[in-house]
Amino acid sequence: KIFYKCDIVVFGGHGDLSFRKLIPALYHLVKDAHIDLNSRIIIASRTKMSNSDNTKLIKEKLKTFLNKDEEFEDEVFAKFESLIKYCHIDFAENKTFKNLENLLTKNQNEERIFYFSTASEFYENICKSLSDYKLISTTSRVVLEKPIGKNLETSKVINEKVLEYFKEDQIYRIDHYLGKDTVQNLIALRFSNKMFVPLWDANNIDHIQITLSESVGVESRWEFYNQYGAMRDMVQNHLMQLVCLLAMEPPHSLDPNAIRDEKLKVLNSLRSIEEKDMKNHAIRAQYTAGIVDGKEVKGYLDDGNSQSDTETFVALKLFIDNFRWSDTPFYIRTGKRMPSKNSEIVIQFKSIPYSIFDNYTMPNKLIISFSPDESITLNLMHKIPGLDEKMKLQEVSLELNPPRSFVRKNEAYERLLLDVIRANPTLFMRLDEVNAAWKWTDKIISAWQNNITPMQTYKAGTNGPASAISMLAKDERVWHEN
Ligand code: BG6
Repeated sequence: KIFYKCDIVVFGGHGDLSFRKLIPALYHLVKDAHIDLNSRIIIASRTKMSNSDNTKLIKEKLKTFLNKDEEFEDEVFAKFESLIKYCHIDFAENKTFKNLENLLTKNQNEERIFYFSTASEFYENICKSLSDYKLISTTSRVVLEKPIGKNLETSKVINEKVLEYFKEDQIYRIDHYLGKDTVQNLIALRFSNKMFVPLWDANNIDHIQITLSESVGVESRWEFYNQYGAMRDMVQNHLMQLVCLLAMEPPHSLDPNAIRDEKLKVLNSLRSIEEKDMKNHAIRAQYTAGIVDGKEVKGYLDDGNSQSDTETFVALKLFIDNFRWSDTPFYIRTGKRMPSKNSEIVIQFKSIPYSIFDNYTMPNKLIISFSPDESITLNLMHKIPGLDEKMKLQEVSLELNPPRSFVRKNEAYERLLLDVIRANPTLFMRLDEVNAAWKWTDKIISAWQNNITPMQTYKAGTNGPASAISMLAKDERVWHEN
């Protein structure tokens, strides 16, 4: 086993993402002995705080945010704690980076990772200050959280600024969906199983659906979320990446750029939604008060106490204009305050050419779920056993669930942080991918800004507005619901 020795600096170290995901992920990497105990984890944040108060806070947060079925282990924490240092930094105040210089240059490790868990508008300032204090070297790497910018233009500006200080191969643009095992498994499923290879195209697939629904609202992030909305928060990154993995051509190898080249081709082949179709193919909505998980919840506007035209739900019908996918619809949707947490891909295969059975339906569906549980199911037609004179069919599910020992144990962030530590960029987004995704989503966002698609509403606890359902009904299809 390799123990990696490095210094990791988390900017925004006291932010929501850091407490919920990054710190638990780092704790697990220490627990599983991936990180050498001479490494350092520097939590950088704006508050002035002692090392011991920071450690107390981190301990408290870890206890809250570790997996529900996991016990907090004092022994592991003792090791973890020995790696942690606190650093007071104000991004707007260059001189506070002196604190970081003092820490980093003492007993330094050669490999240095800067994790920017902050809004992307701060990236330039942080880079400049790091550079002023000569803290960036050729072995340094930087992790950029999404969304980078708010559109193509701002993404380009921010990325260009970061590129003044780091080379492209030092930049790790994170999309945590790529760290999920089930998402990586799409590559294995498609390219290592002969039976799917000849079927994966417009001739054999009727349509594809992707649902990323959440029952939570925007929680304490209203101010932040309200500047972005579901399109920038979920579609431009997570959903686009899933579309890429489902639709891309086989890469010539698992080399990071071989995969990214294929994903980029998909993004460049996305058919731009015409203005006349915007209303029916690009639906946006906001939740109103309702009942989720048996509890009454407020509407989005009441959550924030303010007027807003930020969408909390998006449903899109998209096409990939290339040889493989010609005219095959991809229906994608995501939203807050829907009935449950459900992340699922449905590949609906076409009908057989001619049916000799009475009750034949279009049964062949591959359902890939990655939340709340991970599973893969293939629906097939099967004879109903018995003595009926006329053969009758029923739909049965073939569970392709991996043996328990295969089931994911590691959170997406753990996998991705380890990849940054071992300098493997395969599961990170290259600049051209991020910008191609912005280019496509920008057109929809600007149509929405011009009110070409009016904002709809949906009651919290429901599956989105009626128009999202009729988007499929018009094509004589329905969303797959659990
Ligand atoms: C994040 C979004 O990227 O993904 C959040 O900013 C969202 O709004 C989260 O809740 C969902 O991730 P997961 O892994 O829980 O499906």
